[in-house]
Amino acid sequence: MFTRLHHLGLVVGDLEAAKSLWLDTYGFSVDEERSPLPDGRNVQLDNVNILDIPVGESELEINMANDPNSGTGKFLERRGAGPHHICLYSDDMDADVKRLIDAGQQIVVSPTGSADQEGGSRVAFAHPKSNLGFLLEIWQNMPVNGIVPEPPRGKGGSLTYVHHVGVVCNNFEEALALFRDTYGLKIDDVKTPLPDGRFAESDNVKILEFLVGESRIEVSVPQDEISGTAKFLANRGSGIHHVCFYSEDIESDVARLNTAGLVQIGEVTGADEGGSRVTFYHPKSNMGILVELWQDV
Ligand SMILES: [Fe+2]
Ligand SMILES: [Fe+2]
Repeated sequence: MFTRLHHLGLVVGDLEAAKSLWLDTYGFSVDEERSPLPDGRNVQLDNVNILDIPVGESELEINMANDPNSGTGKFLERRGAGPHHICLYSDDMDADVKRLIDAGQQIVVSPTGSADQEGGSRVAFAHPKSNLGFLLEIWQNMPVNGIVPEPPRGKGGSLTYVHHVGVVCNNFEEALALFRDTYGLKIDDVKTPLPDGRFAESDNVKILEFLVGESRIEVSVPQDEISGTAKFLANRGSGIHHVCFYSEDIESDVARLNTAGLVQIGEVTGADEGGSRVTFYHPKSNMGILVELWQDV
């Protein structure tokens, strides 16, 4: 079973700029036990230097591409800095990978380690072509003396967890086939009931939300060809579109991000009781990823 969003993988070509953005401006902290500053941890598999930045029970994983000929280096060259992969936490790596294979997915890195290893973690990767355009990583922490360690929790300012990762695709059918039928995630059928989901007038999209731990995967399907989301889909194809952090005090987070010079898109929306207030920050301010802030009212 996939039980939480383990991390969102972001590719960067400038590690200092990434530290300045996510640590100094957003106020998140690096898990230095795993990825000590200043350079993080080097992963030889793809010659990247990684910073693990806990956000709630999940993480931002900053991948600095050192080698232009590596997979990550070529991604950076082709698409620029920005979102690169989604990593889901599995409580049973072998069963989850088998389910993906049975659904016709191509596993590009088979599960590392073994099911009976003591401690450490196991990872696997599945090809973007059967994951709506994003690389899927799967992660499992292995027990020590029968106990699986809890994830560290992180926050920045009043940003306390990853509320959702936004994914854009062409229709609900392909989203349901992947997130519900293959990954086994549940739809929030209160907020986004089938068959039509939730309609967001601001960008003329239909939305389905899939629950994963304390986070969601928010799937948007454009209903016209002129919205920002529709243009993103036309230009880049389906895939990861934005990341949304939950804010416990959206006014104070907006004030400090604006003071730091980030480009806000639109004001914070108003909301009646029971609704939410949201705002966005432009990808050019965030090393290639659109950032949303969300506060329930
Ligand atoms: Fe990763
Ligand atoms: Fe969103």
